Order: sequence, then structure tokens, then C-alpha cells
Amino acid sequence: MTDSGAHLRLGVLASGRGSNFQSIIDAIRSKQIKAVVAVLITDNPSAFAIERAKKNDIEHLIISPKEFGSGDDFYAKIAEELKKRRVELVILAGFMRIVRKPLIDAFPNRIMNIHPALLPSFPGLHAQKQALDYGVRISGCTVHFVDEGMDTGPVIIQAAVPVRHDDTEVILSERILKMEHKIYPEAIRLFSEGRLEVRGRTVKIKGQPTPDAAIVNSPLMKP
Ligand code: GAR
Repeated sequence: MTDSGAHLRLGVLASGRGSNFQSIIDAIRSKQIKAVVAVLITDNPSAFAIERAKKNDIEHLIISPKEFGSGDDFYAKIAEELKKRRVELVILAGFMRIVRKPLIDAFPNRIMNIHPALLPSFPGLHAQKQALDYGVRISGCTVHFVDEGMDTGPVIIQAAVPVRHDDTEVILSERILKMEHKIYPEAIRLFSEGRLEVRGRTVKIKGQPTPDAAIVNSPLMKP
């Protein structure tokens, strides 16, 4: 959380295309959130997220886990680079790895992740396909704080979308992604305003009553 007037310093970790990263850049541009992306860190030298960083004059670092003896050393290095740049909130935006202790300990309740399902359902990879295969009628996305588990940390915001009978994985993923791009900037905004309070495994949203802040759309409405 920042002093009023200050811009929250974000460090973004992404492994791929970076559309969530872009939604955060756009939200900063349009002043929806008062923040600055201090650095993009990627584990993938061909991640399209790098192009987005370049286009927006954001520093980027490629840190490959192969260069480190252990996973812990890899995460210690990431934590060190983030700290050097005075990052206050770490944003996992399609970072396809399970974060380990050295990074979590360096940023307690200060790492967010977005996952394309209504957690705790369908954690891990291919969440949208898992939802289709299971046959649920509603799925969605979740922004949560990161702990040492896989997609297990305290939930901040969720958005629901319908699953239609003729959906493919691609179509459902697109419908969910549209909502991801809404709730991730919103979660960062709430954090930047000091309105998120973690109590055990739940997150209270402080401030004026926002009954809709925890669910963005009705599953029965067309997104
Ligand atoms: C997003 O759908 C995000 O929710 C998912 O990867 C995609 C990244 O897209 N993350 C996970 O599955 C993490 N478990 P993007 O690179 O365009 O933001």
C-alpha cells in the first residue's frame, strides 16, 4: 500500500503472451489504477510479454531457471531484482510456475495471481478444459494472493461466466479472459487504496460497501 499521492510500484512476472500484463498497462494509462510497472520479469525469452514491455518503455529481465542450481535460488534471484527496484506488489500474469518460499517470504501477502477458473475448482494447468470436461455450467476467473500451494491462496475477486453447451476450450477461454482483464486491474486498485485485509485465508474488502466487488457479473448475463 502506498502513501496517498504515491504510485504503487508493481513487478510483473509473465511467461507468455501477456494479455493480462497489457490490461494492467492500459488501466494505469487510463488512470484506473495509480501504479507504475517497475519491471517485467520473464522465464521465457520468446514471451510476447517482452514486446509489450518494450513498447511501453518498461524494463524487462529474462531470468532462466536453468541458470540456477535450485528452484529456491531462482526465486531468491527474482526477489532480489524486485527488491532492487523497490517493488511493492508482485503480479503473476500468466507466470506458469509454482512460486517458492524465497519469493513468498520476501513479499508476504504482496503477490497476486490470476487463474482462469473459480478456485478452488480446477487449479493447475488447462483450467478451462478441466471445467469443460467436468461439465460445469458456470466457470470464471479468480484473483488471489499467492501462498506456497498451487492456486490455493486467499481469494480477492472472482468473476463468473456461463459455460455454454457448444463451447470449445478456445471459446470458453476467450470469454473468461475478457473477465480476467477486468478483475485483475480492479484487484490491484483495491490493493493500492489499502482496501484489502487478509484475515487467515479470507480477504476483507475495506471501505465503502461494495457488494459487487467480489463478483463481477451475473452468470446468467451475456458477458
Ligand atoms: C491467463 O488465462 C491466466 O489466467 C492463465 O494463463 C493465461 C495467461 O494469459 N494463468 C494460469 O493458468 C495460472 N495458473 P496472458 O499471458 O495473455 O495474460
